[in-house]
Amino acid sequence: MTFPYLIELPKIIDNRGNLSVVQNHKEIPFDIQRVYWLYEVPTGELRGGHAHKDLQQVLIALHGSLAVTVDDGHSRQTFMLDKPNQGLYIGSNIWREMSDFSEGAVCMVLASKPYDPTGYVRNYDEFRRDTRSCVST
Ligand code: TYD
Repeated sequence: MTFPYLIELPKIIDNRGNLSVVQNHKEIPFDIQRVYWLYEVPTGELRGGHAHKDLQQVLIALHGSLAVTVDDGHSRQTFMLDKPNQGLYIGSNIWREMSDFSEGAVCMVLASKPYDPTGYVRNYDEFRRDTRSCVST
């Protein structure tokens, strides 16, 4: 299991405005099959609070900032996303919580698979049990 890590994305600086880009298997280590974005998040709201059994994602704060706390069942780390040329890679079986959205923040999520509600683990104790049993086998 790979612990979440930041990906620096290209930033093509231009007086007319900057540009960033992602491509499958280049900046993004998988084939993107789905893109969604979080926006108009009220101050103090939390998103996430689950893990995915078999899904890779990259989160990019396209505008504003947010905190993403990730947990592999053994250790926990909080990443502050505040640059549109930076992504946070989150692989399978990682618990994530998004918080501290700034006003007007927009977080885009690139995902390796179509939406599948059965692939979520929404109970933290169940998640901890699953991750522990993975290590011991
Ligand atoms: P959820 O993944 O729980 O949001 P978050 O983790 O950001 O808090 O999804 C919230 C709702 O949106 C849920 O009813 C399912 C729906 N949804 C889709 O229909 N398709 C999608 O690709 C996603 C991510 C969510």
